Amino acid sequence: LVLVVDFGGQYNQLIARRVRENNVYCEIIPYTTPIEKIKEKNPKGIIFTGGPNSAYLEDSPKIAKEIFEIGVPILGICYGIQVMAHILGGNVRKGNTSEKEYGKTSITYEKSAIFEGITTSTVWMSHTDLIDVLPEGFKSIAYTADCPVAAMENAELNLYGVQFHPEVEHCLEGDIVLKNFLYNVCKVSGDWTTDSFIADKIKELKETIGDKKVLCALSGGVDSSVAAVLVHRAIGDNLTCVFVDHGLLRKNEGDDVERIFRDKFDMNLIRVNCEDRFLGKLKGITEPEAKRKIIGEEFIRVFEEESSKLGKMDFLVQGTIYPDVVESGHGEAATIKSHHNVGGIPEDIEFQIVEPLRELFKDEVRKIGLELGIDEALIFRHPFPGPGLGIRVIGEVTKERCDILREADAIYMDELKKAGLYKEIWQAFATLPDVKTVGVMGDERTYAYLVGLRAVTSSDGMTSDWYKMPYDVLEKISNRIVNEVDGANRVVYDITSKPPGTIEWE
Ligand code: XMP
Repeated sequence: LVLVVDFGGQYNQLIARRVRENNVYCEIIPYTTPIEKIKEKNPKGIIFTGGPNSAYLEDSPKIAKEIFEIGVPILGICYGIQVMAHILGGNVRKGNTSEKEYGKTSITYEKSAIFEGITTSTVWMSHTDLIDVLPEGFKSIAYTADCPVAAMENAELNLYGVQFHPEVEHCLEGDIVLKNFLYNVCKVSGDWTTDSFIADKIKELKETIGDKKVLCALSGGVDSSVAAVLVHRAIGDNLTCVFVDHGLLRKNEGDDVERIFRDKFDMNLIRVNCEDRFLGKLKGITEPEAKRKIIGEEFIRVFEEESSKLGKMDFLVQGTIYPDVVESGHGEAATIKSHHNVGGIPEDIEFQIVEPLRELFKDEVRKIGLELGIDEALIFRHPFPGPGLGIRVIGEVTKERCDILREADAIYMDELKKAGLYKEIWQAFATLPDVKTVGVMGDERTYAYLVGLRAVTSSDGMTSDWYKMPYDVLEKISNRIVNEVDGANRVVYDITSKPPGTIEWE
């Protein structure tokens, strides 16, 4: 285990990713974590991240000096090297105009365990402050034209620091620096792989769950699907999955879930078909928040009814993944997520939560899903909101309008896949505004629905840009929708970024 101590830098997740890519398991912890807790985790190495503060200011993030005395190798990056220098008695000061470095910078490395195999390179710098007096016992091991201490070490104590960002792509030999730190200094074994993850996790799940009963609210999304299959591998038929088909799913989605989980993986799957029930509740409702609330509440109600039929269940599987844990802070994450994933677990049902993917990033979850044999189409499917088509059929939700939208959306996805664009788009979908327009088809007047197409690029859905779709692909999609979907006669493409737009239309 390697711990990444978070001082508020923008690249913290990236550092963790790079460590994982070296087959070393790692976790991000806040800089406020007590030293005792850190010692308990028994890490092989610690990395301090960058951060936006100045180490010499009184109220900037600091860590107790004892961290340097527990005998675990430490690498400080950017703010990390500065805070190390400051705490150990060196001097950090604000650089003058010529001393600030941003972007690509040439560097010369001295001999050091972390620079084995490299002598000069181009690194990625982003700093205003610099170290002008080294702490006792340290020496400078790299310099640039403007920065005499671009890296430092106290090899005896295994303490290292770099002013640049070895984790970013533009830092040419950054991966070598990180690898050297992990293998030469921390002496990691490097045996953390997705294969070993699956085997270890199954063993752990068996031990935790024993022969108790486990419930899973399966949505057909990537995370809950991978979590369910993994738990099934561990405990078999003691797992029951409840799949609420609210009739607001994409074309064939419900049948696909059934085929994959019941037929292929032979899992206990209860598919609750309640299209009429949801559409009944949504009748006449047009306000987006009201629709969301109705769908969310009804979802809980159905889930509650089904789980109470099953008798006492001891555990509930959640598809929480690492970014969810990091973003929602530590400790409270499990409960926050359980509400988010299944739309709110009733408070009077007592479950212990099992979150087998808690330590993983999305791409790792996907890799594990593929290794477990889950269909590629499911693994790489775009995100889909809990309220489903209920918030993509704008205005009143009716079966007729859901069917029109399902057909249009299926054509859209089909063409994106054929054009090889599906994987590079973060999320794409069709919407059906409550608008009819006039058209002409075979000399006949038509009066039918307008279909809106949305495609966005994003990394987390918090912000996004509209995808610059090639015209020929748009043309093909538009032609097919107008020709093949009964009830639609016009297509528009959404060119709004988020903010100010949101990704979904409701
Ligand atoms: P917005 O529309 O807020 O969407 O820009 C951001 C991302 O979140 C998805 N989304 C949801 N996901 N339950 C979910 O699990 C929901 O109620 C929900 N609403 C929006 C949306 O599809 C996009 O990926």
